[in-house]
Amino acid sequence: MINQIRISGYLLAACASLTVTMAHAVDDSKDRGKSVSDAEFMQAVKESFLTENPNDFKRFQDPTLTTCNQTQDQPSPKQASEILQRERSSIQLPKNGQYMGDWKQGKIWVEGAHGGRIGFPGFADADHPSKPNGANCYACHAVDPNFPQNGNMGPSLTNYGKLRGQGAAIVKYTYEKIYNAKSFVPCSLMPRYGAGEGHLLTAEQVADITAFLLHPDSPVNNPKQETVAEAAHH
Ligand code: HEC
Repeated sequence: MINQIRISGYLLAACASLTVTMAHAVDDSKDRGKSVSDAEFMQAVKESFLTENPNDFKRFQDPTLTTCNQTQDQPSPKQASEILQRERSSIQLPKNGQYMGDWKQGKIWVEGAHGGRIGFPGFADADHPSKPNGANCYACHAVDPNFPQNGNMGPSLTNYGKLRGQGAAIVKYTYEKIYNAKSFVPCSLMPRYGAGEGHLLTAEQVADITAFLLHPDSPVNNPKQETVAEAAHH
């Protein structure tokens, strides 16, 4: 449990509701069936945070995640509209005012898994603060069909721009969804990349990723390139 907290880093913020639910089922056979109070759980989480970045723990004190955890991701209509309103108010445009950035840069951010890990200072796998953060979208989505693997918690984004076009409304939606997924789905499992304390990505990075999903030249919207090995099978 605690190891998982250290490893999953920012994904944990998105999955906190799941984690809290799991924490109620104690895994040690002699303790099986015993339940752990929320206070005990938070204490254990706090003790495992050997990081010097105060933003790391703040992720657990977020009012939106608190509501989602308490309601097991089933907020009442009133709670849901409070969340949507609060999350929407976090969204900011890049400095140049453009929702679409550079898709080639976006490809790098989408693939990157750097940033947001919760680890020991000086831990071998700790994220070096001088490197820009990545988004690790492949943990949950198929995106570029040439990328070797992907998770499937979220829907496939392959051909996203081909299927939806590049109209103003879809460009704005895509930017805002990546910036703050919970401004559309109150207890979305997708991280709020641009929002919150110690946000993971800059507005410019979100715009680059928007372009990666939508630009007609992006590999997302083009057929998979055959590898040499695949071509040899013909
Ligand atoms: C922890 C898993 C997770 C990660 C990481 C993640 N997403 Fe998602 N994403 C989801 C889930 C689950 C949904 C569907 C629920 C929702 O809409 O919030 C979703 C929905 C979306 C949608 C809306 C799709 C539609 O049909 O309108 C877009 C766009 C999207 N994600 C883009 C991204 C991008 C780009 C990244 C990386 C910057 C990313 N996601 C990272 C889980 C994730």
